[in-house]
Amino acid sequence: MSIFDAGGHEQVVFCNDPESGLRAIIAIHSTALGPALGGTRFYPYASEDEALTDVLHLSEGMSYKNAIAGLDHGGGKAVIWGDPGIDKGEALLRAYGRFVEALGGRYVTACDVGTYVEDMDHVARETRHVSGRSPEAGGAGDSSILTAFGVFQAMRAAAQHRWGAVDLNGRTVGVAGLGKVGRHLLPHLIEAGADVVACDVDPAAIGWATANFPQVRLVDGADDLIAAGIHVYAPCALGGVLSERTLKALDAEIICGAANNQLAEPGVADELDRAGVLYCPDYVVNSGGVIQVADEYDGAFDFKRAERRTAGIFETTARILERAKGEGATPLAAANAMAEERMAAVGRLQRVRLFG
Ligand code: NAI
Repeated sequence: MSIFDAGGHEQVVFCNDPESGLRAIIAIHSTALGPALGGTRFYPYASEDEALTDVLHLSEGMSYKNAIAGLDHGGGKAVIWGDPGIDKGEALLRAYGRFVEALGGRYVTACDVGTYVEDMDHVARETRHVSGRSPEAGGAGDSSILTAFGVFQAMRAAAQHRWGAVDLNGRTVGVAGLGKVGRHLLPHLIEAGADVVACDVDPAAIGWATANFPQVRLVDGADDLIAAGIHVYAPCALGGVLSERTLKALDAEIICGAANNQLAEPGVADELDRAGVLYCPDYVVNSGGVIQVADEYDGAFDFKRAERRTAGIFETTARILERAKGEGATPLAAANAMAEERMAAVGRLQRVRLFG
């Protein structure tokens, strides 16, 4: 793949430090709205080409996520090519931090798959342009609390759109994945009076749910979950879970979950729409995480302020669903259009040059 074909990325940087083993690619898709913000994925890709393809897609996705979340940030992402369990270490992370610093603030990094708050603490010893640090190091820590809160807000907006009331009382919600986000989502749902069905592949997660939320009905896997008479399906594990196959078995009227890249193929959004299933775009629903990360980077982290901003996901989702209905478009198409409009309208302001 040629980076010049990749949908207009501004800058792609390959970072090589053989002594520490660092092989990283930083992709800046857009700085139209501000410094490109997006996490660092540490993953054992099969090839350099696979790593490049992933970082180009992920960074483009961050432009849309940051735009729709109302942040003053463009979209970027980084991948470190390696096995985090084997290759990760202080020297590698600090070498990576120096490459981030060398970009002078055009790219701001944070956690993603395979990287954690303590890793960002190492990165932060070499660069100011990092968020998602531990509270001990002055950061905001785990973002899954606000991500789950944002998922709940989007779900309420979808319920209002579909059923005329935000109320989830008496509705059955299926949560696939009881990891960091899924676990924080459960109490919101239960407090709202929803019946919850859940699954996870990890016996420890199942044990946690049994001990903490005995009222949650646990099923064997996502196939059972989507056919369990649920009204709302909340994918909170891996991506690619919405395919033609799942659509055939799906009971739910609303899909609203935290997982990134839920659609196995883009065409599935149209098929869901034709089937009358309200699909809330994943990057809108799960933007609570990046709202937290931006709050930490933009000033001293304030949980209440970040929570207020995350509550805005209710309004954003409601506007997207209304627009989709009005235009006869899918919610995904409506969200993409709104993100692109904001990037164009606000990005344009850079032309009003400021001096001094
Ligand atoms: P996690 O790794 O803590 O939890 C994922 C859970 O899913 C694990 O308990 C795992 O055992 C389970 N799982 C894996 N495969 C499964 C399957 N086939 N069926 C059922 N369960 C399965 O991840 P986390 O942080 O909870 O994130 C969940 C999703 O939300 C991911 O797609 C992530 O990219 C996305 N996300 C998370 C954010 C955050 O703040 N943590 C922010 C934005 C998106």
